[in-house]
Amino acid sequence: MYDSSKLRVIMESIRSFLFNLFIMAKVIYLGVKQFFQEACRTVNPINDPLNRQGEYAIITGGNRGIGFYTLLGLQASGMKVIAGCRDGRSKQQLFEKLEEAGIPADSVEWINLDLSSLNSVKIFAKVVIDRNIRISLLINNAAIMFTTYGLSKDGFEQQFAVNYLGHFLLTHLLLPQLVEGGKHNRYASRIVNVSSDSSFLGYLNLDDLHAKSFYNKFVAYAQSKLAQVLFNEMLHTHLTQNDHPIKCYAIHPGVVRSNWYNTTWYLKISVRITGFCNIKSETLAAQRVLYTSFSPVLENSSGCYLSDCKITTPASKLLCPTLRLKLWDVTLKILDIEQFGKL
Ligand SMILES: NC(=O)c1ccc[n+]([C@@H]2O[C@H](COP(=O)([O-])OP(=O)(O)OC[C@H]3O[C@@H](n4cnc5c(N)ncnc54)[C@H](OP(=O)(O)O)[C@@H]3O)[C@@H](O)[C@H]2O)c1
Ligand SMILES: *[C@@H]1O[C@H](CO)[C@@H](O)[C@H](O)[C@H]1NC(C)=O
Ligand SMILES: *[C@@H]1O[C@H](CO)[C@@H](O)[C@H](O)[C@H]1NC(C)=O
Ligand SMILES: *[C@@H]1O[C@H](CO)[C@@H](O)[C@H](O)[C@H]1NC(C)=O
Repeated sequence: MYDSSKLRVIMESIRSFLFNLFIMAKVIYLGVKQFFQEACRTVNPINDPLNRQGEYAIITGGNRGIGFYTLLGLQASGMKVIAGCRDGRSKQQLFEKLEEAGIPADSVEWINLDLSSLNSVKIFAKVVIDRNIRISLLINNAAIMFTTYGLSKDGFEQQFAVNYLGHFLLTHLLLPQLVEGGKHNRYASRIVNVSSDSSFLGYLNLDDLHAKSFYNKFVAYAQSKLAQVLFNEMLHTHLTQNDHPIKCYAIHPGVVRSNWYNTTWYLKISVRITGFCNIKSETLAAQRVLYTSFSPVLENSSGCYLSDCKITTPASKLLCPTLRLKLWDVTLKILDIEQFGKL
């Protein structure tokens, strides 16, 4: 006679195996679709980069990948750039790459930021706030992708923590500085979330945000990116209600040959197989981020989602609208924020 608990365990592993298989199929479908879409796309850079001499921009990451090339564009527009990346190897890489690009080291400021620690986010924000500067642009770029299960310093699933929670907290803490920037500079401030079309995987499990009962690395990544998209929409509502001079956007930077494609065998293979496709370089992806940061065309389109520099229907439309409200509330609770944007 089989005892029922054993049977339950077996049934559970079959269920989870089938679900993983289903997700893999969906990932492959979405991946192939994205590769081919990207092949047909061209980048639509801003022809007329604005002169933003002396205004402050903050970018998370920035030491490599899309973030580094975005940082170069910000610097070229005359902005004072603050890069928030980790100390040690990442910081060193930032300054080595700047030197390679012939950019004087003192034209970019580095402040230590580890998004996997909420305390580090708080310290970063405090250093910025104490500088008493007005911020014109915040680019939430840093991310980890398709990582194996792991916890952040605060005990949250790490992709959710770094990609979503850390940036949520950062945006909350810097909001007053962004409001100041929007009030006193020529243009409204902007917040740009480098999200991803992988949000179209369409998962958001509010009952298990930290993947304690089920973990699939694609789902966890897609969920963190979808959460960003939902947040963008809530943030837009919040900014409008409070009449804040800030515009916010979430974007898909494209399928980009960043270092990420060197990290796992299946990503390496997918780049090989689709080598004939027109996968974009990090420089081109950065152009899309810069377009979202600067283009006057987007001035009245706050809260939108862009793919390939075009306003597109976001993945959040697949979901029930009440979900974004719930996610917003849950996040405020997790982060112990009483009122968003009020310190
Ligand atoms: N590549 C694509 O095809 C693609 C597609 C869709 C969306 N995206 C999005 O584009 C953005 C940039 O991606 P990428 O391709 O440039 O990736 P990447 O080359 O892997 O760069 C990721 C950046 O995030 C930083 N980062 C990671 N964990 C961090 C932490 N705990 N604290 C602070 N910084 C951290 C990294 O710094 P370290 O060097 O310290 O790790 C690095 O600067 C991401 O938001 C990604 O989701 C990329
Ligand atoms: C981006 O997403 C983060 C959460 O990851 C959120 O805090 C931030 O306000 C969002 N901003 C925009 C413009 O979407
Ligand atoms: C990926 O690895 C290849 C081969 O090792 C290397 O030539 C290439 O520069 C790497 N790409 C990035 C973006 O690091
Ligand atoms: C945005 O709206 C303002 C006010 O309605 C209008 O004057 C301006 O031309 C609009 N800008 C764009 C790019 O549509």
